[in-house]
Amino acid sequence: MKIKSADFVMSNSNVLKCPNEPLPEYAFIGRSNVGKSSLINMLTERKSLAKTSGRPGKTQLINHFKINNNWFLVDLPGYGYARVSKKSKNTFQKYITDYFRKRKQLVNAFVLVDIRHEPQKIDTEFMSWLGLEGIPFSIIFTKADKLKPSEKETKVAAYLDHLLQEAWEEAPVYFITSSSSYEGREELLQYIDSINKA
Ligand code: GTP
Ligand code: MG
Repeated sequence: MKIKSADFVMSNSNVLKCPNEPLPEYAFIGRSNVGKSSLINMLTERKSLAKTSGRPGKTQLINHFKINNNWFLVDLPGYGYARVSKKSKNTFQKYITDYFRKRKQLVNAFVLVDIRHEPQKIDTEFMSWLGLEGIPFSIIFTKADKLKPSEKETKVAAYLDHLLQEAWEEAPVYFITSSSSYEGREELLQYIDSINKA
């Protein structure tokens, strides 16, 4: 799929105030600093469409980007950022939970995990919660440029194995990406395109 246009539409913390057009949307979620905003820039080939930072906790709101005038990419704040206060953590949880539960336009969530890391409870629990809520999701292994090709395969296989051992019936669809080398870009866009056309 060719990206002809990518426009920031709005940021907010209330799912009811998100754009009310009936266009399909895809949300990026995962731990702070995993590379959600960078991946949106990579997919759209717009260097600073979504704000990124070396420090975790950069994205704070629900951000809608309209792509090719007919679907949305949604950048969300990360979870698991230890330095936010308990109060803002609770507020965060409430509006993100609301977003996932109430957003009818959401067709697929992408849960991002750093390809270098061992499976983390916070991620697998979040995926289980999405499953319970009936929200389709896929995994994106990010920062693939940080590993050698053989290490990538081993890491991903071990991660999927872990899910199956945790009594998952089947491993979710997954992608391996790098926002610096553009690895995975075509596959991911093709996947989105196939859902949009279904
Ligand atoms: P929050 O908004 O804080 O939750 O973070 P985020 O998940 O949006 O991460 P962001 O895109 O801001 O990236 C965090 C850091 O990781 C930045 O320093 C990026 O340059 C770096 N980064 C993101 N993706 C990649 C990648 O594919 N490869 C490498 N090497 N670095 C990456
Ligand atoms: Mg971000």
